[in-house]
Amino acid sequence: MADTEITVSNNGPLRLKGSFTIKDAEGNAYDLAGRDALALCRCGHSGNKPFCDGTHNRVGFNHQWYYPLSRTFTLALNADLGFARRIGDKPVPFFKSYYAGGPGSVRGYAPFSLGPQDASGAALGGTRKLVGNAEVQFPVPGVGTDKSLRLGVFVDAGQVYAANAGLSPSELRFSTGVALSWSSPFGPLKLSLAQPLNDKSGVDRVQRLQFTFGSGF
Ligand code: FES
Repeated sequence: MADTEITVSNNGPLRLKGSFTIKDAEGNAYDLAGRDALALCRCGHSGNKPFCDGTHNRVGFNHQWYYPLSRTFTLALNADLGFARRIGDKPVPFFKSYYAGGPGSVRGYAPFSLGPQDASGAALGGTRKLVGNAEVQFPVPGVGTDKSLRLGVFVDAGQVYAANAGLSPSELRFSTGVALSWSSPFGPLKLSLAQPLNDKSGVDRVQRLQFTFGSGF
């Protein structure tokens, strides 16, 4: 009869119990300090691999797709979903909260401004995040074969939600606009001019012109 029990958690670690040795790729055994029960990371996001550090509770999903529509037009899609769970009865710490708004999120709204707010209007972040972007990209007219410059027409949507709030679609914020991307010698730069489509007066902070370093949306 085996003297080691391994339990596969749903969306979580492998839990080991009993008598075992864990070795690294070179065959060196980890010092387990006599423990006979521990959890091994299965999500790949732990900062203390091979052991689980609880990060799986907050792992998000981010993916981008690029579809060529023609020789010059490309459809770029981005999905950024996040879900943070509290451990036991402790709340999710504020620095683990999700934020949305701004470049790379929902353009046309001030960075990190969407979602629950305190009495002064400061964003509190949330434990669930939904962000989606769709952008049709094409070369800048008149620049010949220079592929370092691209224009895009986009629609963004997104929101973050407090732990006790439902994922209401009516709370999603939308925007549309144009973006100019430049693969500069210093790295990718992106300038966007956006029009929020359903901002709430007195709640949302609009910022139409936004600039960012980095690739993506
Ligand atoms: S399974 Fe827990 S951090 Fe990866």
